[in-house]
Amino acid sequence: MRTPRIVVMAGSSRRDALSRRIAAACAGPLQAAGADVKLVELADYPAPLYNGDLEAESGLPPGIVELQQVLHACDGLLVVNPEYNGSITPLLKNTLDWCSRPNAADGARSGGAVYAGRAAAVIGTSPGALGGMRVLFHVRDILGYLGMQVIPQQLAIGHADNALGEDGRLRNEAQRAALDALAAALADTARRLRG
Ligand SMILES: Cc1cc2nc3c(=O)[nH]c(=O)nc-3n(C[C@H](O)[C@H](O)[C@H](O)COP(=O)(O)O)c2cc1C
Repeated sequence: MRTPRIVVMAGSSRRDALSRRIAAACAGPLQAAGADVKLVELADYPAPLYNGDLEAESGLPPGIVELQQVLHACDGLLVVNPEYNGSITPLLKNTLDWCSRPNAADGARSGGAVYAGRAAAVIGTSPGALGGMRVLFHVRDILGYLGMQVIPQQLAIGHADNALGEDGRLRNEAQRAALDALAAALADTARRLRG
């Protein structure tokens, strides 16, 4: 059976983003679960706010074409989400929307084909106590609509500014165990879905 390839991305490109730090902390548990991990920084795949006129005039931004290829090559996606007013960040929604658009020059690796039939998992992060619990339901819904199989395991990491130790791992033992379980379930689901 093939090693599942998991893309990890944070919904923020802010320099000191807590979600980016937590996303980096997810690589170890996923690798321990037998996955190949690719950490994606959304800042490396820039795109303007989606507008149909822009798309009609210029097609897909080069960064989006590149990200579509990255997503198409993966078996599973882990999204680490900051919470904006109880919901998804505009950066993440914009990126997911652009990637859902077909690219006439590469129909097989664009549009819905970059999501369909792949496993996904969601984590919330916040400097507040609730850990972005509310964003999880929205992002789950969006990824499911895109054709991904979102696993039931999820994690909301509150006080995320103090969640990681010097070793870059979660300090809290229960959270570490929950992340290990999520990573194992995501790797296993990706493996079973994509063989
Ligand atoms: C527009 C906006 C809305 C926010 N809404 C929430 C919220 O609903 N819940 C929450 O816990 N934090 C909220 N915050 C605070 C963010 O959790 C905090 O800024 C966080 O550090 C952003 O994520 P990042 O560090 O990954 O960039 C909001 C921040 C912004 C800018």
